[in-house]
Formats: sequence, C-alpha cells, structure tokens
Amino acid sequence: MATIRLLHADSRPIEAPAKMASFLEEEGLVCRNWDVAKLPEELRGNYALTDAEKTEILATFEGELEQLKAEGGYVSADIVVLSEQTPDLEALLCKFSREHHHSEDEVRFVVDGHGIFTICGRSGRYFEVMVGPGDLITVPAGTRHWFTLAEDRRIKCIRLFQDPSGWAAIYDDVPAGCP
Ligand code: LAC
Ligand code: NI
Repeated sequence: MATIRLLHADSRPIEAPAKMASFLEEEGLVCRNWDVAKLPEELRGNYALTDAEKTEILATFEGELEQLKAEGGYVSADIVVLSEQTPDLEALLCKFSREHHHSEDEVRFVVDGHGIFTICGRSGRYFEVMVGPGDLITVPAGTRHWFTLAEDRRIKCIRLFQDPSGWAAIYDDVPAGCP
C-alpha cells in the first residue's frame, strides 16, 4: 500500500487507507491497489525480462488495464524496469529527479520494487507518495512532480499512455549536470 508524507508541514506519514484515499482525492490524484499475488513469483523478482515475459505480465492484468484504458482514454501499455542492471540508470534517475510535468497523465502500476513520487498537488502542497507492489498511481497531466527510487533501488512498473508519441517531460529549465 502506498504511504504519503507531507513535506514542510507535517512529516508524519499518512498510512490509514481511508485517510490516504481522501487526501489523494483532494489533491487530484488517483491511487488504487491491484492484486500482484496472481503474478508468478519468477515474474515479480525478475529484472531482466524477455519480451515474452513482459507480454505475460501485461496479459495477467489485462482486465484491470482494459478498464483503466476505458476510463482514462489510455491507448497503450508497456513495462518499464529500473534496477542496477539498467545500463543508463544514473542518467535516468538524474533526469527523473528534476521537477517536471507531462502533457498527459503519468500512470504507473508497480509490479515489484518501490518508488517515491514527490508531487505538487492541487492545493499547492508538496508531498511524497511511496509506492510499492500492487500500487497504481495516476499523476494527472500538468501536475508538477519528480521521482526517485527507494532503498531497494529497483522498480518494475506497467505504464499506460494516452498518446505514446506525445510522452515527454517538460522541465522549467533544462536539467543540467546529468550524466
Ligand atoms: C517519468 C517519471 C519517472 O517522467 O516521473 O517517467
Ligand atoms: Ni514524470
């Protein structure tokens, strides 16, 4: 289950599911939980997936994905993997760690591992959302955010896109100093 930590104001994490749901709704975010237990263990822990294994993961969540696509106008899905085995990990993390937004929703379903989104919500407050296995998060188009890994330094997600060709980060300034 995701946890939320408000920055600057209150550092106590919000963990109660009902409180978390109402906080996220207030801030304009969608967070849900899908059952990852139905995915075979070897597909969860594997960070060197073949194309066939990626297809199998997508097929496992087909029902959930189809419903979400219909609700949010998403047209395609893929799998993204970040781990120590990712050749350009440091460069990617450097880019993700700069505040940015996108012209479409950023939708991530966490199959394994963890990630931390820092998000500027509708109220203007900044808060961290720590996502883990089973968490689905939708950061709406235009919402400023950045991302980093957690202590386990790895994450495997399903991404959904409204327009795959339009997926680009918009930075206030060009991220300088990234490798
Ligand atoms: C992205 C996330 C990591 O832009 O914010 O893909
Ligand atoms: Ni982003």
